Amino acid sequence: MEAISIGLLGLGTVGTGVVTIIENHQDKLIHQIGCPVKVKKILVKDLNKARSVELDAKKLTTDPEEIINDPDIDVVIEVMGGIDETKNYIIKALKNRKHVVTANKDLMAVHGSELLTLASEHDCDLFYEASVGGGIPLLRSLSDGLASDRITKMMGIVNGTTNFILTKMNKNGSAYEDVLREAQALGYAEADPTSDVEGLDAARKMAILATLGFSMKIDLDDVKAEGITRVTEEDLQYGRQLGYTMKLIGVAEREGDKVSVSVQPTLLTDTHPLAAVHDEFNAVYVYGEAVGETMFYGPGAGSLPTATAVVSDLVAVMKNMRLGVTGKSAVAPQFKKQLKAADE
Ligand code: NAP
Ligand code: HSE
Repeated sequence: MEAISIGLLGLGTVGTGVVTIIENHQDKLIHQIGCPVKVKKILVKDLNKARSVELDAKKLTTDPEEIINDPDIDVVIEVMGGIDETKNYIIKALKNRKHVVTANKDLMAVHGSELLTLASEHDCDLFYEASVGGGIPLLRSLSDGLASDRITKMMGIVNGTTNFILTKMNKNGSAYEDVLREAQALGYAEADPTSDVEGLDAARKMAILATLGFSMKIDLDDVKAEGITRVTEEDLQYGRQLGYTMKLIGVAEREGDKVSVSVQPTLLTDTHPLAAVHDEFNAVYVYGEAVGETMFYGPGAGSLPTATAVVSDLVAVMKNMRLGVTGKSAVAPQFKKQLKAADE
């Protein structure tokens, strides 16, 4: 049984979780895909940094070409973050006919359609489940589980860091700066947490959800976003007295051909199910014309939950490789046409 070799771009919060799951769940992976999975090379910035997983130091490299150009590597997992440099690596990997799994919403919200089109042109899979909702299997639920329905609205909490901050400020009266530092230490926040607290991370995720859910390309520039930096302890306190809880809520709505997508701090009655979503957890309501209301809930950030989504994408790629159908499921034909039209 020959092992499948993968290359990892990044060994931070999520990358460490990916290595851990591949190591600890090897039996389950073999059962799912019929062969072992081996992490062959890992791209990092600093070769001398202390790592929280045990691995052969020879696997680490600072040269992306050692992964992207390695003919033995079938799948590249991108968990390094960033946009321009990362996009180039993914393009090269796809052109070298490597399948790609990414957790990168910054990249997918802006360049997703171009990369998905490129992937399918090269018969490659490009999956990005971890880019929205951390460990919640949300994107595949939209593209597969609800494939027969017409989605009309999605609404919920899609940023773990700000939900963690609001939860701690609301419950314990903790200071904003202290809880933000805690969220960073726990690996929930982005390398630059400005995108979390200013609502940009949630806006990117809502753009990805709306693009997938409504099968039309949504421009990030069209998403109105406000974060939590102007929310004060007094706002939370008044809300509490009146029976309301403040949450950062994203809404994507479609009426006919018109779509609106926004993110803003919102006061919810304490009895609203989203008011009970605590710490780094996320929850998203999806409304479909036929199904009615569904709700998806779970850990929205953090090492192992996010890595679960990444490694599950890897399993999906490998199943497609075995069946010889890679590059077919990343974009449905109708969607492909719309994406191409939107790009032109
Ligand atoms: P992170 O902890 O900052 O790790 C980034 C990793 O990438 C590090 O190992 C770093 O190397 C490496 N890296 C960064 N820039 C590089 C470069 N230019 N060249 C070579 N290596 C580079 O980030 P993370 O939290 O794991 O997030 C990774 C991605 O997953 C991001 O796109 C993020 O938005 C997304 N994501 C994160 C979470 C979460 O909960 N953290 C959840 C969902 C999605 P060194 O270790 O040597 O510094
Ligand atoms: N910084 C992101 C968040 C990570 O807090 O939600 C998960 O995408």
